[in-house]
Amino acid sequence: MTNLAVFASGTGSNARRIADFFAHSDCARVRLLVCNKPDAPVLDMARERGIPTQVIDRAYFYESEQLLSVLAEHDIGFIALAGFLWLIPPYLVQAYWRRMVNIHPALLPAYGGKGMYGMRVHEAVKAAGERETGITIHYVNERYDEGDIVFQARCSIAPDDTSADIARKVQALEHEHFPRVLERLICPTLDDNTTA
Ligand code: GRF
Repeated sequence: MTNLAVFASGTGSNARRIADFFAHSDCARVRLLVCNKPDAPVLDMARERGIPTQVIDRAYFYESEQLLSVLAEHDIGFIALAGFLWLIPPYLVQAYWRRMVNIHPALLPAYGGKGMYGMRVHEAVKAAGERETGITIHYVNERYDEGDIVFQARCSIAPDDTSADIARKVQALEHEHFPRVLERLICPTLDDNTTA
């Protein structure tokens, strides 16, 4: 059994999907939620499910390595970033090399990088007149949105789609694919047919 930590600081709709997907899994379980906003709704989601939470601030995250001890206490083997906007510091990238992925709401390398998050991404996609967008799940390295890509899924954009429409389509892709991609990475012996 692999213990999974989810880092999230927003509403946590992806974190919720991941927690519920693995709640009865034979191979992984969400055992920790890390958040940098003390009042984020995602914390309630975790508490309702009995998932331990760790709220962090910048000094804790960047000027100490205490988080490594917390991850070790919970025996965390894999990390999913689901709406966590802070750059991951080198000590954590190294400790979880190839064991930490992020989800980005566009087709990287386009529309990524510092400051490209949330509705800003979808507004930029709309402004550029793109006919398709999608999601990218990638390993985490020391730069924003630049780690090796693990998975992408696409959706089309109709000419009259608003950026809110695009956001809805992208979120549906995230909810559909993120838990399954995590399962494939964490539980590689599972038959692919069971995760299609
Ligand atoms: C998602 O769009 C994800 O791609 C991005 O942050 C958003 C988190 O949304 N990294 P939610 O809090 O899971 O609803």
